[in-house]
Amino acid sequence: MEPAALRLLGVTKYFAGPGGVTRALKGVEFELRLGEFAAVMGPSGSGKSTLLKLIATLETPTAGSIEIGETNLAALREERLAAFRRDRLGVVFQNYNLIEVLTAEENILLPLDLAHVPWQEEEKRLRALSEELGIAKVLKKFPRDLSGGEQQRVAIARALITRPAVLLADEPTGALDSAGARALMELFCSLNAKNKTTVFMATHDAWMASYTSRVLFLRDGRIFNEIYRGQRAQKEFYEEILAVRAALEGGR
Ligand SMILES: Nc1ncnc2c1ncn2[C@@H]1O[C@H](COP(=O)(O)OP(=O)(O)OP(=O)(O)O)[C@@H](O)[C@H]1O
Ligand SMILES: [Mg+2]
Repeated sequence: MEPAALRLLGVTKYFAGPGGVTRALKGVEFELRLGEFAAVMGPSGSGKSTLLKLIATLETPTAGSIEIGETNLAALREERLAAFRRDRLGVVFQNYNLIEVLTAEENILLPLDLAHVPWQEEEKRLRALSEELGIAKVLKKFPRDLSGGEQQRVAIARALITRPAVLLADEPTGALDSAGARALMELFCSLNAKNKTTVFMATHDAWMASYTSRVLFLRDGRIFNEIYRGQRAQKEFYEEILAVRAALEGGR
């Protein structure tokens, strides 16, 4: 069996606010193997984005621990955390976080510039990724002049350009049309198969989830269920995802 790429133990996250405390995650535990492609689903507010932000080192847990490969995130200080995030993780979030004063191309290359990758290598990766994502024609534009779907694909290119060991994506197909969404899932599948990139994404869309080999379901900050595709056809897995989702939503 492959070693663990990601290990969560008793991960709990509370947010304190003027309205009281929100218990976003309550003791979440699971492991992803190296090279796994998994999704997390669950109703709005169930904790999916919080879970991804904790793994992405953008928030810290109230309790519990998160290990990525051999690294326990709690042991990293701010400076090393930023380098770790840049070099090991690819992160795509709902609000794409593109830098407004940089062009699409500059946004995508930023993590490589920071890591001092030679420009010939930058060019090669940029060309390949922008072809694959269909953004070759918009590379000189600024974020405000891109459509929502283009911004999303630029953010995805930026997340993939470092060839991260772990790719974390929150609703990555949210701003894409159905052809764009399918193309992105196929890109994730091929990255996962070719480079053994471990991919973990949150989605509301059962068909997108059916591209993965494992789906975790969250409800009220806890893992409610998880299912594996195994050797089944995508369509069959899709139907099971729909059934589990219906059970999860019906069991309130
Ligand atoms: N920074 C924050 N401060 C206070 N509460 C927060 C914060 N971030 C998230 N929450 C709360 O934590 C809970 C989980 O939110 P989260 O964004 O993880 O849900 P989600 O499953 O991603 O939902 P959606 O499907 O709508 O994106 C919600 O009740 C939310 O209001
Ligand atoms: Mg969310």
